[in-house]
Amino acid sequence: MDNDAPISIAVFGLGHVGLTTALGFSDLGWNVIGVESDLAKMKLIQDGQVPFNEYGISDLLAKNLHSGRFSVTADIKEAVCNANILIMCVGTPQDTDGTADISQLQNLARKIGQNITSHKIVVQKSTAPVNTAAKLKEILLSNIQNSKGSNDELVDIVVIPEFLREGNALHDFFNPHRIVIGLDNFDLKDMLGCIYKPLLVKMGKNESEILIYTDISSAEISKHTANAFLATKISFVNMIADLCTKVGADVEDVARSIGMDPRIGSDFLKPGIGFGGSCLPKDLAAFIQVGKINSIDFSFLEEVNKINELRISNYINQVINVLGDLKEKTLGVWGLSFKPGTDDIRDSPAIRIVSELIKLKANLRVHDPYAITAFKEFIGVSDRIYYAESPSDATVGVNAILVLTDWVQYKEEDFKVIRNYVNDPLIFDGRNLFDPDLLTNEGFQYYGIGR
Ligand code: UDX
Repeated sequence: MDNDAPISIAVFGLGHVGLTTALGFSDLGWNVIGVESDLAKMKLIQDGQVPFNEYGISDLLAKNLHSGRFSVTADIKEAVCNANILIMCVGTPQDTDGTADISQLQNLARKIGQNITSHKIVVQKSTAPVNTAAKLKEILLSNIQNSKGSNDELVDIVVIPEFLREGNALHDFFNPHRIVIGLDNFDLKDMLGCIYKPLLVKMGKNESEILIYTDISSAEISKHTANAFLATKISFVNMIADLCTKVGADVEDVARSIGMDPRIGSDFLKPGIGFGGSCLPKDLAAFIQVGKINSIDFSFLEEVNKINELRISNYINQVINVLGDLKEKTLGVWGLSFKPGTDDIRDSPAIRIVSELIKLKANLRVHDPYAITAFKEFIGVSDRIYYAESPSDATVGVNAILVLTDWVQYKEEDFKVIRNYVNDPLIFDGRNLFDPDLLTNEGFQYYGIGR
């Protein structure tokens, strides 16, 4: 790449990660072209509308469309011709055996390759198994047409994994704990460091405090390792929660006691009905397959997954042990999304529990601040479900309240009032959201996780 050429970035795939990345770089002052092949989505974004919920992103879209630094297209050729850094943010969904399906990345690499006529840095940001970047480089090179001289010199592949949390994606983009850059051509360090320079200035940090340069495989493994480790912490604390239930201890006290040791850390030690969402379960499954492919014993991670799977039946059994047969019982459900702050119900433990309860012929009064529309689409028509307008509406006449997502607004409910709505004052707090003493004082029977 001509080192004096102005930097211009193209981001392919404008989902949560792609749009956040595109707008983040644009806001840092770079010219960014967003490429979205779904025409309806592309037009929405072009018109300043965001096709998913993500805190703060609508305002940033409006600002950067207005500045002219961000534009949107469906035309891959236009983006490849006009940008020198090409960031791939397309999906890598889970295959039936848990393997990550990298076909969207492969297809995109083919199309990008067909349009390359000058040197490009191609960044793999989508989460993918180790060795994916090497495969993509082969595809890119073998699809370059009409090039004079060696194709090898026209493409450098780089891996920059994303560590963005849904609902906090913009915050995480602008306040990263680290930026991992995996590359095999270390001459690119200046150019890649340069695109993050405005961010480092904003954060008041030196390059060495945030940027980590690694080889390509290490960068790919870093992402899977990060999510597998977070999943491990959650399953670990949930395993301890099972012990606490058995012996009458309080897992919240145990978690606090160990979390204050900085070697352990208090984050991701929240017990409950388990981890879900579009990343942790999928990345854990894909990483287990990476272990298998490389003949490494990753059975440890299989246990992490197994402990998480068991959360669903453990919770339902806890309810059945108290209420008996759930047939025709009425249950108030608080929360459907996989975590608070999002309407995303993908792989949500709440949804798995609700689906089981319907199979058991319970009647449900469900509430979620954001996720009702997504849930209706998922579940279809069911005469067993009443869509409550408020958390308290979900408790009218119920035999128990089930807390499945730790939305902070549920903590603001007045249980003196709720006590008059419910038929039976029972609460199964699947996220340990509430203070058991507070609810007991209001006349409720409280059942938490591991306490
Ligand atoms: C995760 C990673 O945090 C992020 O770095 C990565 O890029 C994408 O995957 P996200 O899926 O948005 O982000 O959700 P996260 O906040 O990590 O929560 C994942 C799940 O774990 C949720 O279902 C949450 O309820 C659960 N969780 C989290 C717990 O059960 N206990 C905890 O202590 C923390």
